[in-house]
Amino acid sequence: MTADSPIGIMDSGMGGISVLREITALLPHENCIFYGDSKNAPYGSRSTEEIYHLTANVVDNLLEQGVKAVVIACNTASSAAGKRLREKYPQLPIIAIEPALKPAVINCPGGRVLVLATEATLRERKFANLMEEWKDRAEIIKMPLPGLPEFVERGELDSPALREFLLGHFKSLGEKKPDGVVLGCTHYPFVRRVISELFDNKVKIYDGAAGTARQLRRRLYSRNLLNPTTEKGTITWLNSSDDAQMIELSKKLYEIEI
Ligand code: DGL
Repeated sequence: MTADSPIGIMDSGMGGISVLREITALLPHENCIFYGDSKNAPYGSRSTEEIYHLTANVVDNLLEQGVKAVVIACNTASSAAGKRLREKYPQLPIIAIEPALKPAVINCPGGRVLVLATEATLRERKFANLMEEWKDRAEIIKMPLPGLPEFVERGELDSPALREFLLGHFKSLGEKKPDGVVLGCTHYPFVRRVISELFDNKVKIYDGAAGTARQLRRRLYSRNLLNPTTEKGTITWLNSSDDAQMIELSKKLYEIEI
C-alpha cells in the first residue's frame, strides 16, 4: 500500500457515513471506500463473536481493495473487534471510533451525561474502561436504543414513529434531564435534530466523528501516508445488501445536512 491508496471506512450499515463526512471534510484529497454491511445490520444486539467475524470479513474485503488504512466507523464493531483486528493486522493503521464521553464530561463537570449507544457497545470492556476513567467527574447514564439504527437504514430521519420511539426511551429518565448527550452510535447523528428537540434544544450533543477523522489524519501523517495529490478525492460506495437502493440512500445521507 502507498500514500495514494484509498482509505477503507466501514460500518454495520449507513451510520458510518456520519464519520465519512468528517473525513472527507478534513482530508479532501484522500480517496475513500465506504463499506456498509447493511445486509447484516444491525450489529448492536449481536454477540461479541458474531460482531467480530462480521467486522473481520468487511476489513478483509477492504484489504483486498488495497486500502492503506481502515476506519471502523461503528462504535459497536470498534468495541467488539477493534483490539483483535489490530492484533491480526499489526502493520495496518486501524482507527476505531469510540463514544465521545471525554468531551461531554469535560464540558458538563458535575453534571449529568446521557450516553446513547447500542447494547453491545455499552456492555463491552472498552466502554467500561472509558466509563471508569470519567465516572467521578459527572453522573453518567447509559441508555441502549435497540431499533434506532433501523430507522436510519430506511432513511427515516424524522417521523411520528421515530419521535414516539425516542420519547418512549427518554421517558425512563423521569426528572433526571441530562446536561449533555453522547451519540455513541454512528447512526444516531442522522437523528440529532430530533433528539435535540425532544430535550427542548437545551442539551449539548457530542459524537466521535470529528475526533476519529483527526485521529486518522494523525496516523496517516505519522506514517507518511497522507495522499500528496492536490486533486479532489473520490468516494467508492460498497454495500453488502442486494438492494441497489442502499447505495442511493448512502449518497443521500452523505449530502444531507445533519
Ligand atoms: N453504527 C453502529 C455503531 O456505531 C451501530 C448500529 C448497529 O446496531 O448496527 O455502533
